[in-house]
This record gives sequence, C-alpha cells and structure tokens, in this order.
Amino acid sequence: MIKFTHISKKYDNGNYGLKDVSFKIEQGEFVYVVGKSGAGKSTLLKMFNREEMPTSGEILMGNVKISRLKNNQVYKLRRQVGVIRQKDLFLPNRSAYENVEYVLSACDVPKEEWDKRILDAFTTVGMWNFREHRTYELSIGQQKKIAIARAIVTSPPVLIADEATANLDNRSAMDIMKLFNKINRQGMTVVFATHDSTMVNTLRRRTLELSYGNLIRDDRKGGYSATNDPKNVYVW
Ligand SMILES: Nc1ncnc2c1ncn2[C@@H]1O[C@H](COP(=O)(O)OP(=O)(O)O)[C@@H](O)[C@H]1O
Ligand SMILES: [Mg+2]
Repeated sequence: MIKFTHISKKYDNGNYGLKDVSFKIEQGEFVYVVGKSGAGKSTLLKMFNREEMPTSGEILMGNVKISRLKNNQVYKLRRQVGVIRQKDLFLPNRSAYENVEYVLSACDVPKEEWDKRILDAFTTVGMWNFREHRTYELSIGQQKKIAIARAIVTSPPVLIADEATANLDNRSAMDIMKLFNKINRQGMTVVFATHDSTMVNTLRRRTLELSYGNLIRDDRKGGYSATNDPKNVYVW
C-alpha cells in the first residue's frame, strides 16, 4: 500500500508542483496519472522514489514513512521502485544484455540468480533475441522494452513510468502499454503518467488527474486490482 496524505511540493523558486494531494494505491493496482503539461505529474512520480521531497504531508510505503528515511536508507526505497522515463539512457557501448545485467551488479542480488532474472526480464518484454545488440542499434520502441526489462529485472513491487510512450508512434505506444498491463497482471503496481488521453481511454484503468498541482479526479471506474490477495511486498 502506498498512501499520500496532504502532499504539497513547493519548489525553491516558489512554483508549486503539488498542492495538498491525498490518495491511496493498493499493491497490484494500475494507475494512470494524467494532466496537461505542468500539471504536476512528474513531481508526483518523483515523490515515490524520493527524487524530490514533499514540502509538507506524508507518504507511506507499506509501513514506512518515506520522509523519515535517512539518506543512507534511500537506496532501499529506490530498489523497490523501478523507474522508466520518457528518454532512456543506456551504457552506449554495451549490449542490451549488459545494460540489464548492470542493474543487478548494483544491487545485492546473488550472482547465481542473475542469468535467470535476466532471461525472465527479456522474455517478459519479448527481446531475448535482441540481447546482444547495442542499444543504439534498436528502434525507439525496442529500446523502451530494454528499459522496461532493466526496470523489472530486480522485481520491484512498484513500477513508475513518466511519459514512457511519448516518443513512440501509436502502434508502438500501444504495444508498450500492453506490456505494462502484462507486468501489472504479474502483481507489480504500475503508476503511469501520460498526457495521452487516447491511451487512457483505450485501456481503462484507475485515473488520477492533476491540474495546476491539484488532484481534481480519482476515477476508479476503469481500475481494478490485479492481485486477488494484495499484500505489501516491500522489504525494509
Ligand atoms: N525543479 C523545478 N523547479 C521549479 N519548478 C519546477 C521544477 N520542476 C517542476 N516545476 C514546476 O512544477 C509544476 C509541475 O511540473 P511537472 O511536475 O514537471 O508537471 P508535468 O510533469 O505534469 O508536466 C510546473 O509549474 C513546473 O514549472
Ligand atoms: Mg512531466
């Protein structure tokens, strides 16, 4: 469970990214975050892995208050929140495989688990046959799949995607969306920020809408929890 209580974010220059935003997400939910450019979507997502700190309010993840985490504990939070951005950065002269493997080397996943985890991640995104390619040899859509494999290889309970389909043509975007759905059905919570209303209206899920930093809609109609027995899987 992730709970935002009265979260506001005022940036140093006086801009408000979020204003008094409260909501709760159960493990295994799929949630869209929508709103115009500047509405606060990225600010909201940055709260999940403490890339930005709220100015006021409290965020609970499982039973841990994110703001109370000491700086030397934040890595534990970050390991539980896979992040996919609009633009993917890769190690340029390494293969897709090595790019995914690199993430494991930065965590304490035992080495004997690496091969299976990497195989599973590549299989989920359908890119095993492309594992030896350099990422620049792949299409933007294929690169996105590698970025997703990289984000899920450590099996984080939560996956955050910020405009992950923005640079893609419609067909590849839908392809990637279906992939996020598939990952969600495996039990991962997915929080997906987008300004693409076509997508949101095609694959209907719970939708949080922001406007000028305010949460103006929490539409549960399309939403459902993929896991029948949702439980907190965060490890602190
Ligand atoms: N680092 C920052 N410093 C100052 N203002 C910021 C910063 N990041 C975002 N903002 C402001 O916060 C508001 C929300 O921005 P953002 O979260 O990026 O919106 P979105 O992702 O929906 O486009 C905007 O007014 C933006 O200018
Ligand atoms: Mg943004």
